[in-house]
Amino acid sequence: MWVRWLAVLAVLALAAQARAQAEPLGPLTADTSGFGQPLPAVAHNRAERALFVAGQRLFATPLSIPLLGPLFNNRTCVACHFQPTMGGSGEFISEIHTRADTTGLPVHTFAVDNVLRAGPQTQADATVFEHGLAAVPLGCEISDPNCVLSPCQQQEAMLKHFSTGLPICDPSSASFAAGDNCTAQRQSTNLFGLGLVEAIDNNTLIALANSQPPAIRGTPRMLIEFGALRVARFGWKDDSATLRLFAALALANEMGLTTPDLPEENTTCADGVMQFGVLLDGGHEPEDTPDASGRAMVDRVVDFMRALEPPPQLAEDAQARRGDRLFSAIGCAGCHVPTLRTAANPSAFIPPTTGGVALSAALNRALAAQTFHPFSDFLLHDMGSLGDGITSGTAGPTMMRTSPLWGVRAKVRFLHDGRTDNLATVIRLHDGQGRDSARRFDALSPADRAASAT
Ligand code: HEC
Ligand code: HEC
Repeated sequence: MWVRWLAVLAVLALAAQARAQAEPLGPLTADTSGFGQPLPAVAHNRAERALFVAGQRLFATPLSIPLLGPLFNNRTCVACHFQPTMGGSGEFISEIHTRADTTGLPVHTFAVDNVLRAGPQTQADATVFEHGLAAVPLGCEISDPNCVLSPCQQQEAMLKHFSTGLPICDPSSASFAAGDNCTAQRQSTNLFGLGLVEAIDNNTLIALANSQPPAIRGTPRMLIEFGALRVARFGWKDDSATLRLFAALALANEMGLTTPDLPEENTTCADGVMQFGVLLDGGHEPEDTPDASGRAMVDRVVDFMRALEPPPQLAEDAQARRGDRLFSAIGCAGCHVPTLRTAANPSAFIPPTTGGVALSAALNRALAAQTFHPFSDFLLHDMGSLGDGITSGTAGPTMMRTSPLWGVRAKVRFLHDGRTDNLATVIRLHDGQGRDSARRFDALSPADRAASAT
């Protein structure tokens, strides 16, 4: 029943009790088989399964110039969401933000005019990218100190106040208090089970916040999306409430594809510009439009994500039961809420596709009134020095969404910036509203252990 990493917590607690100087706990290497499957109801429904597979294919299909860019971070969704399989998290920093950029959007690492700086490129005899766009090397990165910035990249650096010399944001530092600019690095998150998260009623999340003790009470981030006031739940800073909008944001900001929901490019730097005979950007927006079935690429990647099953749970053993009790006893479960339930009728608030196709009755049934175990409240918390220093709407510099811990066993690095692969370190870095709980973890004594184990 319970996820295996709770057993790890029990092991960690033992290590803490033994006053071990350093816990030798590296990345979790537990069983990761079964990740990335469709919900069983989707697997057994021919039409739904076809949509899942079509979406999965587009999730992994590289964009080409002129659809790609002009500013972008990568060419496919899967490039950043692959660990341990398609739809997972990443193994590296895939996004940079700067404090002085008030849009809250990432600095784009690549620009098409830079990718083509050396002319159309091939690998061996093969053209590896339509129109000769490079595969390896993929242009130079704005974040590389040796990169000779292209015109688009220069504009990006100016707009985002980015330079390679900026320090990493520490919201508890004197430099931060003085208002200095800084950067925050971000890891991607895994997308398993997000259809269930989208299907949680707003009032469930609001009631959850109201039920939390004041010392750890979460803040629901309210957003108007698709004409309705909603509680945000996606992204490190709760940047969106619907998969449709998050997918549109990902297409716009990570890949530079404009969609019916976000039809503006981030820049016009490449509009109508030819380089080495290649048109960098056509300037016809949106680039992505619904097909005859009412689905654009943005809708299809949502079909895939919405139908992804949560990470499979491992069988409960004695260690896991013990870890679970400790998890509650020291207050982790206050924010990393083990169990949530979806709305009775998610189709009442889940938006249709960009072409106006409503959530199907079959998927609505699969997502309705489901009890699931994300180990998150999806609310923002003031995490003090663990905050990323970035302001995104009402999510201030120290505010972060409680990371869902389902599937954490498949991650190789933890926290928003992937700064550690050690779980004990992760817990100790919990500051602000998470500090008491982290201290209780450190203070676990044999007596506490006996108490929490009974
Ligand atoms: C360049 C890397 C990159 C690419 C490409 C990328 N993502 Fe992401 N993705 C991220 C990062 C980083 C985050 C965390 C962002 C944040 O919250 O600030 C993220 C978060 C998400 C989330 C929020 C998940 C959650 O935990 O709430 C969704 C949904 C998502 N991405 C979907 C997509 C889709 C769909 C695509 C393709 C259209 C895509 N991503 C392409 C890096 C990427
Ligand atoms: C006040 C709410 C709160 C409490 C209490 C809390 N956490 Fe967290 N936890 C968070 C937030 C918010 C994050 C994301 C922080 C970040 O990356 O900036 C997080 C991140 C994590 C992560 C990293 C997950 C990932 O995907 O990188 C782990 C593991 C974790 N917490 C475990 C625990 C444990 C174990 C406890 C109890 C000792 C605990 N947390 C208590 C809010 C909380």
